[in-house]
Amino acid sequence: MAATDGPPVVKLGPEDAMAGLVLSTEARWNQTEEDWRIFLRDGVVFGIRTGVLLVATAALLPYSGNNAWVSMVLVTSGHRRRGLATRLVGACLDTARRNGLTSWLDATADGVAVYGPLGFTPTMQLRRLKLAKPSQAPAPAPPAATLDALRARDRRATGFDRSALLTAFAGRSGSRIAATRGAMALIRDGRTARHIGPLFADNAAEALALVHAIARSETGPLLIDAVAPQAAFLEGLTASGWTIERPFQRMRLGPASAGAEEMPFAVAGPEFG
Ligand SMILES: CC(C)(COP(=O)(O)OP(=O)(O)OC[C@H]1O[C@@H](n2cnc3c(N)ncnc32)[C@H](O)[C@@H]1OP(=O)(O)O)[C@@H](O)C(=O)NCCC(=O)NCCS
Repeated sequence: MAATDGPPVVKLGPEDAMAGLVLSTEARWNQTEEDWRIFLRDGVVFGIRTGVLLVATAALLPYSGNNAWVSMVLVTSGHRRRGLATRLVGACLDTARRNGLTSWLDATADGVAVYGPLGFTPTMQLRRLKLAKPSQAPAPAPPAATLDALRARDRRATGFDRSALLTAFAGRSGSRIAATRGAMALIRDGRTARHIGPLFADNAAEALALVHAIARSETGPLLIDAVAPQAAFLEGLTASGWTIERPFQRMRLGPASAGAEEMPFAVAGPEFG
């Protein structure tokens, strides 16, 4: 089928949050309805329907400094390999180009095959890790840090101002910002597991100490998207019961913006960067 054939690409609205969640749940992703609402409110989400059924999506979330994150590229299993993802990411890229934005994404192995031909090139690698059962009897939570402190540290590490995103995360009932010595992280609810990230620290030992303190205070499964070049951190996680679930390849299309002053230990999530 030619790339332009088939049902049209449409722009989705807030009323599509649940239909989006059905797609991310089919892919066994961890997003919640609240996550979908961030993309639908602060970004542009494109979709393809057959009849009333939403069968494919892709989102573009603008960040500061002419950057944007592409994510939620999902095609229901019965509609794959018909060019739907290519068309939807193409719609995101048209929007990015019109607005002079550099596009970034964190790709699954299947996603890399779609994004390479569209011009994305690899930057760094991430690893999604899971801790199935953190603690027997939860210990007290590590000390809290302020949203302002997290926003400032996030800006240093990413080069983006992500105040809107971090404020939305921090405002959820299950969220907390934890800090020990030179390390700081946000913990939020997910569909199947709580998610740690972003996580910043002065060194790997402090990053690990904070993750261990968080894990001791949690009772359910945890996920973290670790930055692969932080090798000592990754090794420390796998040595303490965390298992690697999958790699993600960070990719970029457009000029790199300067501004990142420190490397995070874990990102906010592949869908947010
Ligand atoms: C990855 C995904 C979005 C691709 O959607 P799609 O509509 O099937 O992709 P397209 O039809 O546009 O594929 C374009 C090209 O990418 C490559 N490609 C797509 N899926 C592939 C796969 N599973 N394995 C190898 N190559 C693949 C092929 O070269 C394909 O062209 P071809 O079919 O002519 O050979 C879909 O498989 C999916 O939803 N997977 C689960 C969620 C996911 O991983 N999303 C990506 C997040 S980064």
